[in-house]
Formats: sequence, C-alpha cells, structure tokens
Amino acid sequence: MSKKIIIAIDGYSSTGKSTVARQLAKSLGYIYVDTGAMYRSVTLYAMQKGYIDQSHFDKEALEKSLPLIRIRFEVNPVNGLAEVILNGVNVEKEIRRLDVSRLVSLVAAVSLVRKKLVEQQQLMGSDKGIVMDGRDIGTVVFPDAELKLFMTATAKDRAERRYKELLDRGEQVTYEDVLKNVVNRDHIDSTRKDSPLKKAKKAITIDNSNLTLIEQFDHIFTIAQQAIKKINT
Ligand code: DC
Repeated sequence: MSKKIIIAIDGYSSTGKSTVARQLAKSLGYIYVDTGAMYRSVTLYAMQKGYIDQSHFDKEALEKSLPLIRIRFEVNPVNGLAEVILNGVNVEKEIRRLDVSRLVSLVAAVSLVRKKLVEQQQLMGSDKGIVMDGRDIGTVVFPDAELKLFMTATAKDRAERRYKELLDRGEQVTYEDVLKNVVNRDHIDSTRKDSPLKKAKKAITIDNSNLTLIEQFDHIFTIAQQAIKKINT
C-alpha cells in the first residue's frame, strides 16, 4: 500500500485555503482538518460565556475554562463535509459569522489556547493521510510535513471573496468592514509572539490572485501527487 503523507497548508485569511484543502483531501482519500474552525470554536465559547467582546477580554477566565472546551469534527451525512462540534453542539455556521471573525485573532494569540489545540492537531495527524490548513501548520504543528504550501493573494481579492461568501449566507455586511477585518487579522496573525503566521521552510508559495479555482486545484494536485510519489520510491 502506498505510504501516506502530511500536507500542511498555511496562509493569509480568505485565500481559499479550506476550499483547496478540502478538495485535495477528497481526491487523495485523506482526512481534512480545518484548524481555523478550532480557533473560531474557542472564540465562540468565550463569547457565549461573556469572556470576550469588542471592548474587553478576560483572558484568565478563558484559560481557566480550557479543560471544559471539547472540539471535534463530525461528517455531515448530507453533504459529506466535516463539521465542527463544540461541546456536543454543531457550530459550523455560527463560527463563520463576522462577529466571531473580529475576535478570533485575539483568542488565537493566547499561548495556552494554542498549546491545547496544537496538541489535539498533532494527535489527529499521527497516522498521516491528512490535509490540515491554518497559520502554523508547517511551522509548528507539523514542521516535518512532507508537503507544505503557503497561500497568498492580495487583500482586495481576499476581501471580495469573503464579502460574497458572507452575503450568500445572508449576513448584513459592507465590503469596507470585510476588508478592514482581513487586513486587521493579517496584522495580528503575523505579528503575534506565539507562532506568528509566516512561510515555513521549504513551503511552496501559491499566489492565487490570478488563478481560477480549477487552475489552482490542478496545480496543487499535481504537486501533491509528486510529493506522494517521492516518498514511495
Ligand atoms: O482560517 P480562518 O480564517 O478560519 O482562521 C481563523 C483565525 O484563527 C485566524 O485569524 C487566525 C487563527 N488561526 C491560527 O492562529 N492558527 C491556525 N492554525 C488557524 C487559525
């Protein structure tokens, strides 16, 4: 049987990482893990408990309650997609709201939150055959991943993409707010002390500003097949 690999996909917000990671996992018969969904779930928990809002963040209260937060993924039998379950409740839709996006970078900067989620992510990848996307997958979670990709696109292209997605979901947002959120998250994610977003050693950069989804997928699928072939020869 052919040996499986770990594929780490990192990059800026709204670069389409999860779309391509999900397609890649499906085509290879691998498991897909959206680590952003895990940070978003912790953020939603903190919001529900009143630990965080636009004007305050009780970091200590969140740190103390970390043992009470259980996150897992469950495949939705209707669409075949893995959805995130927070303490037994499916929160897949809620975690994508703009109010969660506005606060998630602050929660993701907390070292104890990262420690807990990174440990869980490393366990998920212990049997390989996984495509994981996030900000620190190739640098911290799986520094020895056989294939690392770093996805990027202009802030304008990413905000346009995100804006359309949110409108399709019925959210009342303005393009300016979405662009502000994208730029702000880029800044917090790449300047935080613990595991800042940066290109991992040996990562291949994919700038998809001018690529269609199909072109991008074909390109990445070819790279993945080459990486799998390499460890099987
Ligand atoms: O991929 P996303 O936009 O759903 O991620 C939400 C936030 O979570 C993002 O702003 C940064 C954080 N994140 C992180 O710090 N590390 C990861 N591995 C994944 C996401």
